[in-house]
Amino acid sequence: MPVQIAGQQEQSIRLLDAESPLLEVNDLKKYFPLKSGLFSRSGGSVKAVDGISFTVQAGQTLGIVGESGCGKSTLGRNIIRLQEPTSGRILYNGQDMTHLNEGRLRHVRRDMQIIFQDPYASLNAKLRISEIVGEPLRVHKVGSRLERQEKIEYLMEKVGLEAEHLSRFPHEFSGGQRQRIGIARALSLNPKLIVCDEPVSALDVSVQSQVINLLQDLQDEFGLTYLFISHDLSVVRHISDRVAVMYLGKIVELAETEKIYQEAAHPYTQALLSAIPVPDPVEQKRRQRIVLKGDVPSPVHLPSGCRFHTRCPLATDHCREEEPVFEEKMEGHWVACHYG
Ligand SMILES: Nc1ncnc2c1ncn2[C@@H]1O[C@H](COP(=O)(O)OP(=O)(O)OP(=O)(O)O)[C@@H](O)[C@H]1O
Ligand code: SF4
Ligand SMILES: [Mg+2]
Repeated sequence: MPVQIAGQQEQSIRLLDAESPLLEVNDLKKYFPLKSGLFSRSGGSVKAVDGISFTVQAGQTLGIVGESGCGKSTLGRNIIRLQEPTSGRILYNGQDMTHLNEGRLRHVRRDMQIIFQDPYASLNAKLRISEIVGEPLRVHKVGSRLERQEKIEYLMEKVGLEAEHLSRFPHEFSGGQRQRIGIARALSLNPKLIVCDEPVSALDVSVQSQVINLLQDLQDEFGLTYLFISHDLSVVRHISDRVAVMYLGKIVELAETEKIYQEAAHPYTQALLSAIPVPDPVEQKRRQRIVLKGDVPSPVHLPSGCRFHTRCPLATDHCREEEPVFEEKMEGHWVACHYG
């Protein structure tokens, strides 16, 4: 049963479910102030994340999809506190992360790791693989030298690499292998929550599925919870239990994966889906290609009312005037559209 949170502004935001989720995000905002120059007025900001709420149960994967610039990475970075949110609440295991002191925050942050898109840029080229994978253990002073070495070898095996690779440097590996190294490093402190920010987008298609399968195996073995960010809807479908679709800093639709792909209710989700070919001819026929007009508006000057109205084929005056509430239209299926 969903529960009410007291004290939200006009419309109370309900949690998506109440069975003590591992992660609860409430009305999260991240605005980047614009620098004021000689000719520009100050006071504006990039509304990269603009009021986002959701929950994720332990051991599950929430996929986050949306076009470039809609705020996916900013959302991920704020959740694991690589960036400081402008406002909103993040509850991890029931603890409000926004009110933790430095020491406690550092402790909780060990539970959260991130895997980046570019496995080359995210690995220090000057370090050997053993140093890269073992760095978090060393920084957090985990175990003795020998114990750390054993852990590093164990992690290498878990991600499908050989212990003999440990003395090599990142440039000696392929993209897929480098991503495996990044995953081994992310796993070193036994995290519970991993933000995967486009982890396979830079890889060849043939290697993508191997890395996705590895992530799924590791999730099963260690009970990991994933926030899986991607602009590729087919990759997200494969790995996610539920999917959140973002547009200009907001979630416009969130539901179980198959609901999103078979019964999308938001015109933006429908448009995104219509652009990808599906193997099932019945499903393909049901979908009409929806071409969105215009470009994504600037997150500095957001459109009035529904922020999708400038591109929505169904937009009315009502949409231009009033912002739709993100609400549960059917059980577990959340949509922000007056007509969806
Ligand atoms: N540090 C920053 N300072 C100012 N603006 C930023 C900063 N980081 C992100 N932005 C802006 O916030 C918006 C959201 O960016 P973000 O990188 O989160 O999007 P994204 O969905 O991850 O995009 P992509 O698919 O290209 O990775 C963009 O308009 C971006 O230019
Ligand atoms: S509220 Fe209106 S403009 Fe926004 S998605 Fe729904 S129909 Fe389109
Ligand atoms: Mg990004």
